[in-house]
Amino acid sequence: MDHYCILGNPVEHSKSPLIHARFAELTGQAMRYSKLLAPLDDFPGTLRQWIDGGGRGCNVTVPFKFEAFRLADTATERAQLAQAANTLKFDGGRIDADNTDGIGLVNDIQRNAGVSLAGRDLLLLGAGGAAAGVLGPLLAARPRRLVVANRTPDKAVNLVARHASHPALQKLLQKTELLAQDLQGLQGDFDVIINATASSLSGGAIPVDAHVLKPHALAYDMMYGAPAQGFASWALAHGAVPRDGLGMLVEQAAESFLFWRGVYPPSAQVLQELRKALP
Ligand code: ATR
Repeated sequence: MDHYCILGNPVEHSKSPLIHARFAELTGQAMRYSKLLAPLDDFPGTLRQWIDGGGRGCNVTVPFKFEAFRLADTATERAQLAQAANTLKFDGGRIDADNTDGIGLVNDIQRNAGVSLAGRDLLLLGAGGAAAGVLGPLLAARPRRLVVANRTPDKAVNLVARHASHPALQKLLQKTELLAQDLQGLQGDFDVIINATASSLSGGAIPVDAHVLKPHALAYDMMYGAPAQGFASWALAHGAVPRDGLGMLVEQAAESFLFWRGVYPPSAQVLQELRKALP
């Protein structure tokens, strides 16, 4: 039976085994999926052992996505744009990398939440790994304007510059205005705001002023569970529609499943089941 895992540190909390087991069941794929804790100082060694032990692929989570990308022999365009990988596939001694986080986010917003991104004004909060992983696929959804704002402005400027100069994005960028702006004094009102900061984890305040929200804007937090609650309450209090990142989690898993197995699982059904099962 083909064996996959999620490699991370920490990894105990991960819902990926549950999601992939359900995908496998619903699509009749013969596969197993486990959790694998890698020591912070030896991701390459743990990955090598996994491959040598017959693993067919893995998901990679915090803090190893950048290392996973660097170790891969090939990478999809979206992984190259992110310079990070959350999905690896092993094929005849070669490591192929993909990054499904961004397409997972876009699919959750467009398919599950029913909000089209084409022609809309988007605000991406944050410029760390989480934001870098989704910027390319957000641009591919053809918004009218995409503003990246971060507490440390230089990081937003660099992230935007890297995407703005990437040859694969030149055509898309003829139709989309891509900008880095400071969080302080941020102007404009947005249809969709995506929180890709880690501010809730450090007990920080909502990183942006509520005037940036258009009435009924979608306020999306890439986290789910307790860390997403502060942002959701803030959004509701200001007339926006909150959404947590549980759907992104399921949809990125669906794209990983497709990358490995060539089969698209019924992700919306599994998201519904997961929502019911969670407290
Ligand atoms: P991740 O992989 O989760 O993106 P990261 O690369 O450490 O983790 O990035 C964390 C992001 O959250 C950064 O954009 C960070 O802003 P800085 O670049 O200024 O550090 C942002 N962040 C963390 N705590 C924050 C806070 N209290 N307010 C605003 N932004 C915060």
